[in-house]
Amino acid sequence: MSFRIQPTAPARPNRCQLFGPGSNTKLFEKMAASDADVINIDLEDSVAPTDKDAARANTIAAINEVDWGNKYLSVRINGLDSPFWYRDVVDLLEQAGERLDQIMIPKAGCAADIYAVDALVTSIETAKGRKKRISFEAIIESAAGIAHVEEIAAASPRMQALSLGAADFAASMGMQTTGIGGTQENYYMLREGAKYWSDPWHWAQTAIVAACRTHGLLPVDGPFGDFSDDEGFRAQARRSATLGMVGKWAIHPKQVALANEVFTPSDEAVQEAREILKAMEEAKARGEGATTYKGRLVDIASIKQAEVIVKQAEMIAAQ
Ligand code: COA
Ligand code: MG
Repeated sequence: MSFRIQPTAPARPNRCQLFGPGSNTKLFEKMAASDADVINIDLEDSVAPTDKDAARANTIAAINEVDWGNKYLSVRINGLDSPFWYRDVVDLLEQAGERLDQIMIPKAGCAADIYAVDALVTSIETAKGRKKRISFEAIIESAAGIAHVEEIAAASPRMQALSLGAADFAASMGMQTTGIGGTQENYYMLREGAKYWSDPWHWAQTAIVAACRTHGLLPVDGPFGDFSDDEGFRAQARRSATLGMVGKWAIHPKQVALANEVFTPSDEAVQEAREILKAMEEAKARGEGATTYKGRLVDIASIKQAEVIVKQAEMIAAQ
């Protein structure tokens, strides 16, 4: 075992990140009034190239004028392969007030991508005397991004989260699908003529969770495109939660409640976790490192598992 203590992720709820295009000003007040923990105003792929300047100006005005309550406020800038990103960073940092919390960096492919944005942000923060240090979230949505996921997670002290962007990821990997997340029709095993579907996102999600947990970041599942399929969203979100992710994007307001439902530990789960902690306290008092709870083994590792659930519930309740 490493002697290094695993760093803790930022202690803020990140169950749902609600997206809306910076070009669609009528959505801003609705996003602010939603139950999402994080708001992502998008300057990237939901904004047409001809709308980039207007979307940037709208976004800056909205950051300064809309009452965002206690939401974590993030803006997704354009990719480093575009002619737009530097202007996004410069205008946001020079013109948006201290209410802005985060910049989201899409299509991150290596640590140097994060370094480049960090250098620009740091210079403007210093020049303008900004008090609040802007945090970063990066999207892992390319072959290079997943191949270099750990160095991306470690690239800057500003890094707070990584999201999996299923659609661009699938395209970059050459996956034969046009679905955004969820079950893929052709990804199945056959046994005695019956199909058993498997999860093509599993490896990328697990790699992201491992990189995040190693470096104290929040791992987040990205979009689920079919917003008429609530059960599909729930199933995808439950798999992500089981793998250690803390939240999921919403690309339509009806997905916010679904994400909050899945990523808020249930009362039963919290109660069971508390009972496990109590059982282990009693075992400890008897000088034992393991005991039985509801007919199954619990030991010192179970304390850590139970604490994940209790801590998550307490953080959300404290919000
Ligand atoms: N945030 C807040 N409110 C939203 C919203 C969003 N992202 N998307 C839609 N709404 C509102 C609509 O304005 C409408 O409000 P109303 O009842 O007051 O008229 C209501 O929710 C229902 O919207 P609906 O008609 O079902 O959807 P739409 O056709 O207006 O928009 C999308 C559908 C997908 C275009 C829109 O949801 C959207 O732009 N999503 C975000 C896309 C994005 O940011 N992508 C980048 C990340 S992948
Ligand atoms: Mg993308």
